[in-house]
Amino acid sequence: MEENQVISMPRIGENAPEFKAVTTQGNINFPSDYKGSWAILFSHPADFTPVCTSEFMTFASLETKFAEANCKLVGLSVDGLYSHIAWLRTIKEKIEYKGMKDVEVKFPLIEDITMEVAKKYGMMMPGESSTKAVRAVFFVDPKGIIRAIIYYPLSLGRNFDELYRALIAMQTADAFSVATPADWRPGDDVIVPPAGSCGVAKDRMEGKEDIKCYDWFFCTKKIDKDTVLNTVLKK
Ligand code: BEZ
Repeated sequence: MEENQVISMPRIGENAPEFKAVTTQGNINFPSDYKGSWAILFSHPADFTPVCTSEFMTFASLETKFAEANCKLVGLSVDGLYSHIAWLRTIKEKIEYKGMKDVEVKFPLIEDITMEVAKKYGMMMPGESSTKAVRAVFFVDPKGIIRAIIYYPLSLGRNFDELYRALIAMQTADAFSVATPADWRPGDDVIVPPAGSCGVAKDRMEGKEDIKCYDWFFCTKKIDKDTVLNTVLKK
C-alpha cells in the first residue's frame, strides 16, 4: 500500500459501506443482499495459511448455528477467486483438524485483489501488514447498520464462541430494550434501562419485574434462557 494513503474506517451506528464483489458463491451486493438478516463480514490475511484454515473450518462448522440466529457469514481476503477455490477445496478434501473433517465452506468468500473492499472497511493496517488484511469482524444488522467491530492481529485466531455470544447479546438487547453486562450469556440477568439512556431511580425500578438494583445507576432484571433463545432464534 502507498504511504500516506487515506484508509477509511466504518463506524458503529453507521450504514455499512456498500460494495459489489465477486465471491466463491457468485456476485454479491453488500449489504443490500443481506437486508432482513444479520451479516458477519470478516477478513482473513491469506488463503493457504494455518491460522486462517483453522478459522474457516471452525466458522464453516458453525454456519448452521449462526443461520438459526438469522445471521449470514461473508469472508474476504485480498487473494483471487482461483486461490480461494483451491484453498477451500483443499480444506474439504485434505484437512482433518480437531475432529472437523470434510468441511465444506458454503458461505461466500470475497476476492479482493484490488483491496478496494479491504480499504473501504479499514481491514488494511499497514503497521501489521501492507499486503494482507488483518482479522476484522463487522457485525451488520438487518437494516444494514454496523453494530460491532472486532479486530485481531495476524497471529491471533478468533474466538467464534465470542462472536456468537456477541451476536445473541446484541439481538437480545434489541428485542428486550436492555443491555448486557460483562460476560453475559443467555439466562444471565440483563441491565435495565439500556446503557446510554437516562438512569431511572432505583426506588421506581425495584420490586418490578424481578428487578435488582446494585445502586441508583445499576439495575438488572431476569430474562430466562428459553425466553431469550425462543425470541432471538425465531426471528
Ligand atoms: C495464518 O493464517 O496462519 C497467518 C496468515 C498471515 C500471517 C500470519 C499467519
